[in-house]
This record gives sequence, structure tokens and C-alpha cells, in this order.
Amino acid sequence: MNNLPNFDERIERRGTHSAKWDMMEPLYGVPADSGIAMWVADMDFRPPACVQAALDTMNAHGIYGYFGDDRAYVEAIRWWMQQRHGWEVTPSSIFTTHGLVNGTALCVDAFTEPGDGVVLMTPVYHAFARVISFAGRKVVECPLAVEDGRYVLDIAGWDALMRGNERMMILCSPHNPGGRVWSRDELQDIAAFCQRHDLILVSDEIHHDLVMPGHKHTVLPVAAPEALDRLVMMTATTKTFNIAGAHIGNVIIPNEDLRARFQRRLSAMGISPNSFGMAMATAAYSPEGAAWVDALKGYIDGNRRLFDEGVNAIPGLRSMALEATYLAWVDFAGTGMEPGEFTGRVEKQARLAVNHGPTFGKGGQSFLRFNLATQRDVVLEAVERLKSAFADLQ
Ligand SMILES: Cc1ncc(COP(=O)(O)O)c(C=O)c1O
Repeated sequence: MNNLPNFDERIERRGTHSAKWDMMEPLYGVPADSGIAMWVADMDFRPPACVQAALDTMNAHGIYGYFGDDRAYVEAIRWWMQQRHGWEVTPSSIFTTHGLVNGTALCVDAFTEPGDGVVLMTPVYHAFARVISFAGRKVVECPLAVEDGRYVLDIAGWDALMRGNERMMILCSPHNPGGRVWSRDELQDIAAFCQRHDLILVSDEIHHDLVMPGHKHTVLPVAAPEALDRLVMMTATTKTFNIAGAHIGNVIIPNEDLRARFQRRLSAMGISPNSFGMAMATAAYSPEGAAWVDALKGYIDGNRRLFDEGVNAIPGLRSMALEATYLAWVDFAGTGMEPGEFTGRVEKQARLAVNHGPTFGKGGQSFLRFNLATQRDVVLEAVERLKSAFADLQ
């Protein structure tokens, strides 16, 4: 790669309408000038130069009309999935949405009715429950178990929770929070669970490129091809390349009948692609983008190691070992403190804006989530602040 990324470069994001940096004071009371934003899942890094170049080309042309021809975009997805995930995507099965929360909402709308149950493995990404509840469907929480400090499935327990009105399951693979990379066996168990309870399986794989060294992610259609007829795959460039503001995502549906139902919702909602997102995503899914992601993963892995080393040395705190994602999931149960107290120390004393565990559902009560996709010295500063905020426990 010609332009080696410098992930250590500090880039000021305050005053740029950034959700993560400019909303930490209004939402968390963490001071804008001295606080560190470690909540929303975006990164403090510029995307690869090829993405910037695609925007430069558009800006130089200066015409911002409606987007049409998506052949290059679809080909870029086909190439990426085949090269990076060993999955042959059929181009006609790809829909483009305004991101994956939008994709999730469309799936809930297209494949379930008001009052139906939608199964989540909790704790899990908070927007799922929000979308399900606001659509008038019921969130059915299937709690993950913890074994040797990592999340594992509890399929027998979940079987017992099913009441017969569940229509869909939303899987987060790799898992956010906690960073599990589900094994092939686990994915097959999930597919069998969906088969047993006749659930449409929506697999949100937005974090599938951000897998730590030593771990291997398997996309659902490769792990469990037997589930293809009930599968909705969701993938995106936005987490991988830090372009979430472009609001673009893919919903990939192998089954023709499900595809027709999804297409009807998409048409009913009048959704069509954003040309900036299409250009950025097409440029990102390239050999240059791939080299950038490989470098990024090494950097995040370094951040994660240093963060865990520092945090796990504080008595009472335990950071789950991330197999994927840049979102550290820290358990404060060992402090014996109520959530109000440990959260208060993190926000008021350490001045860190983080995600609160309870918003992720059952099992999240004693946790806070820390975004590590920032410059290494920022991560180290956050660790020092945590050490002082909990110094009385040493
Ligand atoms: C599992 C998961 N899905 C979806 C999203 C957001 O997707 P989008 O920005 O495409 O709506 C996130 C963001 O953190 C996520 O973690």
C-alpha cells in the first residue's frame, strides 16, 4: 500500500457535528473540552485514501444528481465477499439501504406483524430493541451465558422461552458487545434453533471485517447453508472503513419470496441510494481498502491489549477479551458498587463518555462499553483516568 495509514495522528473532531464528540456533554454531562468520547461506534481515523479520492472526484465534477447505475458497487461487494469471506454473493440478491439500522427496521416491517415476537441474544446492540419496540413488535430476550469470561449460547434455555408467536431472530455476528466471533458450530446451532421455531434469521454482520488476529469469522451463509431460505444477511462498509455518516448498508436475501416481500417494503418507503455512500463504499471494497483494514486491525488489537492490561489490573474491573470489534465491554460487578456509582466515577471523575450496559438488555446491568478505535495515547490516557477514579480500590 502506498499511503500507509498513521493511526496515531490526532484529528480534532470537536465542532464537526460529530455525534460521538459533540454530543457527549449534552447527553452524558462529560465536558466537551476535557472529556474523551468513547461511546458511539465510529472511529477517530480517516478512511483509506481511495475513499477520499472517490469523494474528491465527485467534488471536482461538481454534479450531485440522483444515483443510478449500481453495477460497479455490486461488483465491489461481490469481490469483497468472495476475497475476504469466501462467500459467492448473487448480485440480484443485494438491496441497498440507508444503513443497517434502516435495514433492520425494514426487515421487521417486511417479515413480521404488530405484536409478533422478535428474538435477540442479549446483551446486544441497543438499536435492535428500539426498532422492534417502536414498530409495535415484542422484544424476546434470550440471555447469553458467560463461560470462562466470554459469552456463549444457551440454546436449551432459549428453547424453553419460546411461546410460538416469535417470527424473527436478529443475530449480531460478530457480537456487539463482548466481541465474540461465533464459531461454525455455534452458527449452526443458531440456524437449527431458527428452523425449530420457524424464525426468519436476520444476521447483522456489520463488524465482520474487524476480527482480531487469531480469530476467524464465518459468514452465516457459509457456516449454515441449510438456513439460506430463511436468511437475511446484513453487511456494510461503514464500520469497517469508518464511513457511518454515509448511511449505506446491504441487505442480502437469497430466498426469492423473502426478496419480493422486502422489495415491496423498500418501494413503499421510497428508499433509493445515496450517491456519496455508493461512491465511498465502491472505492473502499478494493485491494487498497483491504490493506488498510489489515493495518487497522493490528492497531486496534494493540489498543485492546493495552486497555485490557490496564483495566484488568484495577481490582473489581474485568474487560472481556475481544475477538472482534473495537468495543471493549467492561464488567464493574467486582467493585460491589451500584451502576450509578461506577458510572458516575467514569463520567464525572474520569471524564469518559461511554455506553451504559443496561441499554443493551438483560445481562448488561454491571457493564460499560468503551470504544477503543482512537489514537493509542488517548486509550492510554483513558486507562490512567480510570486508575485514578478507582484508586481507592487498589
Ligand atoms: C451490530 C450493529 N448493527 C448496526 C449498527 C449501525 O448500523 P448503521 O450505522 O448502518 O445504521 C451498529 C453500530 O454500532 C452495530 O453495532
